Amino acid sequence: MAEVTVLGAGTMGSGIAQVFAQAGDTVHLIEVSLAQLTRGIAVIETNLARSVEKGRLTANESEVIMGRIVGSSDLEQAKYSELVVEAIHESLIAKTEAFRALDSMCPPETILASNTSSISITTLGTATGRADRVIGMHFFNPVLVMKLVEVVRGLATSDETHAHVMDWARRLGKEPVAVGDSPGFVANRVLLPMINEAVFALYEGVADAGEIDTVMRLGMNHPMGPLELADFIGLDVCLSIMSVLYDGFGDPKYRPCPLLKQMVAAGRLGRKSGQGFYRYPA
Ligand code: CAA
Repeated sequence: MAEVTVLGAGTMGSGIAQVFAQAGDTVHLIEVSLAQLTRGIAVIETNLARSVEKGRLTANESEVIMGRIVGSSDLEQAKYSELVVEAIHESLIAKTEAFRALDSMCPPETILASNTSSISITTLGTATGRADRVIGMHFFNPVLVMKLVEVVRGLATSDETHAHVMDWARRLGKEPVAVGDSPGFVANRVLLPMINEAVFALYEGVADAGEIDTVMRLGMNHPMGPLELADFIGLDVCLSIMSVLYDGFGDPKYRPCPLLKQMVAAGRLGRKSGQGFYRYPA
């Protein structure tokens, strides 16, 4: 069992921290916003309490897991970790800064992983002096439920780092899939154009949101329709991923739908803001 750090206690970061703690690792959960840290830890406590209610964990096991998670707002705590998983907001500038800071304080053997959904791992690697130990570990929401981890190899990621992270993801009970460092990797390169197309169908008045989602749920057996899923992911995140695909490939087929841009500009970001393609009463 090892010591790991998860940077960012949002939806993804708190889920990632919980899966590591459940696998027996000690987790430093680091978040600059105290309010977000408190929220992230409360979500983990609620999830564990639900597992106890459902008989999947005993109260004692739940306490032991919670005891492995140490919340902090001090990045310095990362310096004791064998692995750091960065899960802060999707901004190249913020992630580059975080990687630079982590590189300066962690011992040379620490692996620096990013949960980025679309930013280049090779680029993040160049912000450090250890590009061979920089890798993508892309989890999916809800982290506790979704089995997949895309393990993204940058140009300089070493075989050793790659093999170690693939094994670690398996130890977490996940199914890792090795993917290359290409815009959107595999999951978002396939998923986001589908969501964007659904937004175009709505924009052009082909059908309303409920009808588009029903077609994909009942016709394709998707657990959520694409617009419902976009609200779940966050429309700002969807737009940011489409922009990465558009810039990265320079292909007009990835142009974000004007309606998606408009909704983000209006602050209709999906579930997290209370309104997206659907309304979410508080
Ligand atoms: N946290 C923890 N557990 C959760 C959860 C959450 N947020 N949401 C649901 N669950 C659990 C429930 O507790 C339940 O567990 P049990 O069966 O053990 O009781 C199970 O998941 C099923 O939940 P529900 O019965 O409430 O609802 P559901 O059957 O409709 O499933 C769902 C909910 C799992 C979210 C399902 O709708 C789904 O798979 N949706 C698609 C999710 C998806 O595509 N995620 C990927 C998004 S893309 C991404 O994350 C990457 C990116 O870079 C953008």
